[in-house]
Amino acid sequence: MKLLLGVTGGIAAYKVCELTSLAVKAGHEVRVVMTPNATRFVGALTFEALSGNPVLLDTFAGAPVPGSSSAIDHISWAKWPDAVLVAPLSANTLGKLACGLADDALTTVLMAVPAVTPIVLAPAMNTAMWDHPVVRRNLDWLRALDRYALVDPVSKRLACGDVGPGGLPDPSDLLALVTGATRPPPTVAARGT
Ligand SMILES: Cc1cc2nc3c(=O)[nH]c(=O)nc-3n(C[C@H](O)[C@H](O)[C@H](O)COP(=O)(O)O)c2cc1C
Repeated sequence: MKLLLGVTGGIAAYKVCELTSLAVKAGHEVRVVMTPNATRFVGALTFEALSGNPVLLDTFAGAPVPGSSSAIDHISWAKWPDAVLVAPLSANTLGKLACGLADDALTTVLMAVPAVTPIVLAPAMNTAMWDHPVVRRNLDWLRALDRYALVDPVSKRLACGDVGPGGLPDPSDLLALVTGATRPPPTVAARGT
């Protein structure tokens, strides 16, 4: 299937490199769109090498989808996938989605994804951020829209040393969830929560 991966600025971005590799080995076609802050954690070149496709970083100077007649990249990218996974989803981009903001390539593409295409969101962050009332409110709001499948983070020892919920689920579990996702999506719990 055609799988679009959205990567934001979270410490777990490196795990999505493995997920990309797993997806390509399983025969999926993968394209990656990153927030500018995601590139502080993993270089776009890594995802380009692993996916074999250009990475979309800039709404205004993006990479065209090969074979697309659209000169407007965020629309052609939004129409391309069979399913979308955003992992890790930062507290910041979660907030943007809840507010309907589209000020970078990822949030702009997500806004334009057709209603029939499933979008799976995998938030990952420090436990205090995960427990923050604003993050809770944003999650509840997104769930109520019935547009996104939300994958709960796993509880573990996090990179910051804290122990608790906030970890990104195992890449193979996330891949299984997104390749099996249908629209309208259910709220799903990853293994190990
Ligand atoms: C070392 C480091 C690790 C971070 N890890 C996370 C994280 O796991 N989850 C998160 O929501 N924010 C994390 N942040 C904060 C985000 O990078 C920051 O909020 C950023 O603005 C997110 O941008 P984006 O949503 O546009 O990608 C981290 C920041 C640093 C410096």
